[in-house]
Amino acid sequence: MAPVRKQAPLRVKKVFVKSYGCQMNVYDAARMADVMGAEGFSEASRPEDADLVILNTCHIREKAAEKVYSELGRLRVLKSERRAEGREVAIVVAGCVAQAEGREIIRRQPAVDAVVGPQSYHRLPAILAEARRTGSAVDTEFPADDKFGHLPAPARERTRRRGVSAFLTVQEGCDKFCTFCVVPYTRGAESSRPVAAILDEARRLLDAGVREITLIGQNVNAYHGPDRDGRPSSLARLIERLALLPGLARLRYTTSHPNDMGDDLIAAHRDVPALMPFLHLPVQAGSDRVLAAMNRHHTADGYRRLVDRVRAARPDLALSSDFITGFPGETEAEFGDTLRLATEIRFASAYSFKYSPRPGTPAEDAECQVSEPVKSERLARLQARLETDRQAFNRATVGQTLDILIEKPGRHPGQLAGKSPYGQMIQAEGLSAAIGDLASVVVTAAGSNSLFARPAPGQAFPSTRGAPLMTAAA
Ligand code: SAH
Ligand code: SF4
Ligand code: F3S
Repeated sequence: MAPVRKQAPLRVKKVFVKSYGCQMNVYDAARMADVMGAEGFSEASRPEDADLVILNTCHIREKAAEKVYSELGRLRVLKSERRAEGREVAIVVAGCVAQAEGREIIRRQPAVDAVVGPQSYHRLPAILAEARRTGSAVDTEFPADDKFGHLPAPARERTRRRGVSAFLTVQEGCDKFCTFCVVPYTRGAESSRPVAAILDEARRLLDAGVREITLIGQNVNAYHGPDRDGRPSSLARLIERLALLPGLARLRYTTSHPNDMGDDLIAAHRDVPALMPFLHLPVQAGSDRVLAAMNRHHTADGYRRLVDRVRAARPDLALSSDFITGFPGETEAEFGDTLRLATEIRFASAYSFKYSPRPGTPAEDAECQVSEPVKSERLARLQARLETDRQAFNRATVGQTLDILIEKPGRHPGQLAGKSPYGQMIQAEGLSAAIGDLASVVVTAAGSNSLFARPAPGQAFPSTRGAPLMTAAA
């Protein structure tokens, strides 16, 4: 009898995706894993285990873009070690650095096999095949018509394990051309997905156990996707439609531009209970001259009036923002205007950055660039202000009764962690609730990065809303 030949077990290929930058990149990274999943790849949790490593990059500031090259240096070493073991590892650069720098990336780091722009990743398998054939491949085309063609078709989308909270892209690109910003160049013109496609994707997320959806887009409140009759729908109308879906507990959206904050969106903060009382509304600066030089098309007082109107609609609204210090020509007095605006508005949280000149943007060549030490010193003063306000906001929630959406086990045994309506992470003790439940708690203390809570009186059990839940315990 012929001996039975032992076959080596077939090794499933693995993909590792690392994402930098904004939520759009987090979302795109998951879609790239979906695309490769359809090709038989499973996900690796670290690059060392992967046959394909994708860096999904960000070009927004110089630091973000340079990080990519140091990571690529490490991957080059990994690639040659694997090759010595007889295994090939492919390296792909995707995202906004890919779009901005294209083939230059391969010139700088020849270990890179392929470069794929944010609108091309649905073609990843073909691009990788080309790279295998020819040594390298670059695809940074913007599609002329269907900007969302890169989203995998539902039939091919894998049912991945979802958390409680998920991002959903509704809008992409930007036509605003703020003079400091690369996004209009890396992400292309502003474009919105049809309402029906968004509702379908939301239903699939909810079926997979998601309870909170954050609608994302570079200018999410410029959303104007067609409804079933082909008429443009506003973000507010879309939110109203989504809020009716069974199983949905919470809706959020980000990032908004002040000039697209329509009356109906402000009213939605008053009228739609599922829409959380949180608004990220970047202001960038508090001086009208600087705002005009940034091409923001609104004034500091215009922003103040807008904040008043949103707060009138939803008095407990938590506001968040983005700031830039040391934009070209910013004087000490103009920076003082930014500090004053922050002090008046009292943001619940905020991101702030030193101005970083970006290739190809109008402000890059502006004369009177502010020196690094001045930018840094202004940033430190602004951040001290913003941090004081953030902590004050957190302290003000102590004693309040809130619903939290349980996302994961807490830091210590017996604790569960979940977000407040205002987006704060809360560690709750003594709750008998499961992942995905809404539970009513009383906030007992505020630490520097999280809040602590216990069950609200008579609320040891979760106050769930919507459809039956998929729980962690189940
Ligand atoms: N679309 C959003 C945010 C885009 S980028 C908006 O319009 O607000 C996120 C933030 O990065 C910006 O709000 C801005 O504060 C910051 N940013 C963008 N370009 C920058 C640059 N060249 N230097 C420093 N910060 C920048
Ligand atoms: Fe960049 Fe301005 Fe567009 Fe925001 S609105 S993405 S800051 S150009
Ligand atoms: Fe960065 Fe591109 Fe997002 S530049 S912030 S990853 S849109």
